[in-house]
Amino acid sequence: MSKIAASILAANTMHMSEAARRIADAGCEYVHFDVMDGVFVPNLSFGPALLKDLKAEVSLFADVHLMLMDPLRFVDVFAQSGADAITVHVEADHFAESIARIRALGLKTGASLKPATPAEELRCWLDQLDQILVMTVEPGFGGQTLNDSMFVKIRAIRAMGFTGEIEVDGGVNLQNAPLLAQAGADTLVMGTSFFRAQNPAELVARVHRI
Ligand code: DX5
Ligand code: ZN
Repeated sequence: MSKIAASILAANTMHMSEAARRIADAGCEYVHFDVMDGVFVPNLSFGPALLKDLKAEVSLFADVHLMLMDPLRFVDVFAQSGADAITVHVEADHFAESIARIRALGLKTGASLKPATPAEELRCWLDQLDQILVMTVEPGFGGQTLNDSMFVKIRAIRAMGFTGEIEVDGGVNLQNAPLLAQAGADTLVMGTSFFRAQNPAELVARVHRI
């Protein structure tokens, strides 16, 4: 059974409370919370205050994706704001210190790879990670088309013996979801696909049947 992490990046920023409820009511396992600094990726998104308000509004597992040049500066504030999982990029500064800090805080610990970064970069980290987030688009913007050369990377991570959760993020939809699951992905980040769905609960039920 695949899990779904609905990405609130794709929501209308004027209706965030409604978006959070829509994610919770549809039965998503996680809310995927994309944090961008305009340096590591060419876009800005939102900060810890929104996460804190979201967690006060709905009961959702907060899967925080830090697309930051120096994530170590923000691990603690997102943990204090309600993050249940924090994922940092292997390409970022202070990657090792960030992973150590997330683990020390007792949070689900994740590492993410941009499309151009080979799976091999994480080989020596596998026993420190609860999840690996495979970017299936260049990070920074929702609504892109999935880069289907990433299927090889998902299989390569499994072939390295990683038994934790593999999440895929970017351009995921009901058409490519079965292929992603067959390659070894457990959790599907869906932003555009989720918020464009006429019947979000039906979308979630279909993901759960994959
Ligand atoms: C990119 C973001 C997006 C978002 C999901 O940095 O991480 O991938 O979560 O985007 P879509 O709209 O493609 O599902
Ligand atoms: Zn993301």
